[in-house]
Amino acid sequence: MTDFATTRRLFHLPEGVLYLDGNSLGPLPVAAEARVREVLTREWGDQLIRAWNSADWIGLPRRVGDRIGRLIGAPEGSVATGDTLSVKVFQALAAALALRPDRKVVLSDTGNFPSDLYIASGLIQALGGGLELRLVEPEQVADSIDESVAVTLITEVDYRTGRRHDMKALTSKAHAAGAVTVWDLAHSAGAVPVDLTAADADFAVGCTYKYLNGGPGAPAFIYVAPRFADSARPILSGWMGHEAPFAFDLDYRPHASVERMRVGTPPVLALAVLDVALDAWAGVDMADVRAASIRLSERFIAEVETRCSDLTLASPRDPHARGSQVSFRHPQGYAIMQALIANNVIGDFRAPDLIRFGFTPLYLSEEDVVAAAKVLERVMTERLWDDPAYATRSKVT
Ligand SMILES: Cc1ncc(COP(=O)(O)O)c(C=O)c1O
Repeated sequence: MTDFATTRRLFHLPEGVLYLDGNSLGPLPVAAEARVREVLTREWGDQLIRAWNSADWIGLPRRVGDRIGRLIGAPEGSVATGDTLSVKVFQALAAALALRPDRKVVLSDTGNFPSDLYIASGLIQALGGGLELRLVEPEQVADSIDESVAVTLITEVDYRTGRRHDMKALTSKAHAAGAVTVWDLAHSAGAVPVDLTAADADFAVGCTYKYLNGGPGAPAFIYVAPRFADSARPILSGWMGHEAPFAFDLDYRPHASVERMRVGTPPVLALAVLDVALDAWAGVDMADVRAASIRLSERFIAEVETRCSDLTLASPRDPHARGSQVSFRHPQGYAIMQALIANNVIGDFRAPDLIRFGFTPLYLSEEDVVAAAKVLERVMTERLWDDPAYATRSKVT
């Protein structure tokens, strides 16, 4: 049984703040500060460039990749880290398309994160050859998979509503039609149990600054199914994906494994923080996380619906049909969220009208979510949101 009282102590949670935005940016792991200081002073400071070998900086991306792999059902050596998620989407989609050169359609849905769609459009434009990005409603994805589809590019959990696709069923449908799957796990990794091997997924990508608590701009990850590890085409053929980077050959020869999806010099400081953040998952059972997350989100929905009649649930009511986040609609959503934040309950807002809350059992308790709902009730009944200070939108919402 996972001890959530212990995991909670691993995070720096500012006094008096109720943090329901770990689905957007996880909190600071307490151990990160000492680890970064060590990397700065003892490794970079004292060892200088020798640290690539002496502190094994060069092996860090692989070690961290394997640790993420354990949380998403990926075998050792099948996850590479680095760059940002948008870059990893580009790489995965390009490699997937190269496996189906005779097909022209990339199938995605209107619930996908815009960056994935922008990246797909940009790649399609660059590749030419009559490729098409076909967008359907999330509910129509399964019925839209046919033999014209080269690749399905789907985010498992919708960033706005938390609606969750059935990864196993869609992957199986895609394979039956001869399509290749790319799964975006940004809102899944560390949020819900993921088993890429059992789902028979082909490619998967994700970020580590949300439920994995790796910090702002933390490195992304990419999974390549072992069956494609030595054939997937790395479109960004940088030296760190080369079979022998320090041979400095003039010709590019991709590494035989998922390492071919690495591009350039790894971000050592960011990887060190992510590495220490992943310590929090030792002894954590994802089934316990899921059960607790459902408990928290169900309690929050019940409390909010009892207390705030003006808010409409925008997430699926069935907890099994959502990830680990819940959203409510209100035309004044932005101002409501600003008023909430001013009262020390942190969630976020997604245009046009969604207030969004994440449930992260590693450091969030049922008491916290009830307390957050009570503050939300006060914001609504006392119209605390109705203040000119909350009318102007910041750059980040
Ligand atoms: C589902 C999804 N895909 C892609 C991205 C873009 O990630 P990045 O900004 O790290 O490239 C995000 C960012 O939140 C996301 O939620």
